[in-house]
Amino acid sequence: MFKIVAKKVLSPTVKQFAMAAPQIAKKCQPGQFVIIRIDDEGERVPLTIADFDRDKGIITLLFQEVGASTQQLGQLEEGESILDIAGPLGNPTRIKKMGTVVCIGGGIGTAPVYPIARAMKAAGNRVISIIGARTAELLIFEDEMKNASDELYITTDDGSKGIKGFVTDVLKRLIDEEKLAEVMAIGPVVMMRGVAEVTRPYKIPTVVSLNPIMVDGTGMCGGCRVAVGNESKFACVDGPEFDAHQVDFDTLIARQKMYIPLEKKSCENGRGGCKCHQS
Ligand SMILES: Cc1cc2nc3c(=O)[nH]c(=O)nc-3n(C[C@H](O)[C@H](O)[C@H](O)COP(=O)(O)OP(=O)(O)OC[C@H]3O[C@@H](n4cnc5c(N)ncnc54)[C@H](O)[C@@H]3O)c2cc1C
Ligand code: FES
Repeated sequence: MFKIVAKKVLSPTVKQFAMAAPQIAKKCQPGQFVIIRIDDEGERVPLTIADFDRDKGIITLLFQEVGASTQQLGQLEEGESILDIAGPLGNPTRIKKMGTVVCIGGGIGTAPVYPIARAMKAAGNRVISIIGARTAELLIFEDEMKNASDELYITTDDGSKGIKGFVTDVLKRLIDEEKLAEVMAIGPVVMMRGVAEVTRPYKIPTVVSLNPIMVDGTGMCGGCRVAVGNESKFACVDGPEFDAHQVDFDTLIARQKMYIPLEKKSCENGRGGCKCHQS
């Protein structure tokens, strides 16, 4: 069992848990994720490690309540426990001194970008971060990103905070102003595709972290298959980070939509989807 040692409500649908998981905290690196199960009937839910404290043996998970499992998770309180946390999974981010690195977080994607920005700065890079959300109340990790970056830009679609517009608008301006060594973007798939299209003509190395449907997280089930550079890759073991200019985003979006009717049913039934496994 893994105990929730602290819970923060960041917005009505975004919660942050500090979890006691000393073995994972000891080994994990920026860019990696875990797969959790609330109890023995629980779905396997992949969540990125948003922060870690090796001394205290704690990992931080941040999640948006989008369906039955994440809603159930959000109802748990400090002091309660969940059954499993498997990890760390996936490959760590490639961190090295490159020059000026732009770290972009969209919505909940800002959480996994944070440890990457911090590590990029610690490696001696100049870190410019851009965080964006639809509206001000959905912005997360603003202070953390400010501390991890040399410069921070905030964008909101409705202009309620920072610059009115998209993260890509700021990125275009930065490209005009200076030489960028790498762009790292994590957020909604449409945002990551937008970032890839902005940097492609300039051949700026661009990395995205993909979040296809995952089941086992070990490369066995094939659930997380993504097309990258005309090859099939498994995001859980080959990724989750890939060269954005090689990713087939259209196929990724289509595959993510495949399960929407089942996910709706899962919400209607409370949990466990069709419950056919119980009949
Ligand atoms: C490597 C990775 C890291 C992730 N990190 C985070 C994170 O840090 N914070 C966060 O809020 N979300 C993260 N996600 C997405 C998160 O796993 C899903 O939101 C969650 O599984 C939804 O479960 P649900 O039962 O509540 O919703 P459902 O009703 O099952 O699904 C709602 C939506 O979530 C997505 N989803 C559902 N199941 C999965 C699955 N097994 N794998 C991937 N996506 C799924 C689908 O796009 C779906 O449309 C990550 C996904 C991956 C693959
Ligand atoms: S989640 Fe099963 S192969 Fe990646």
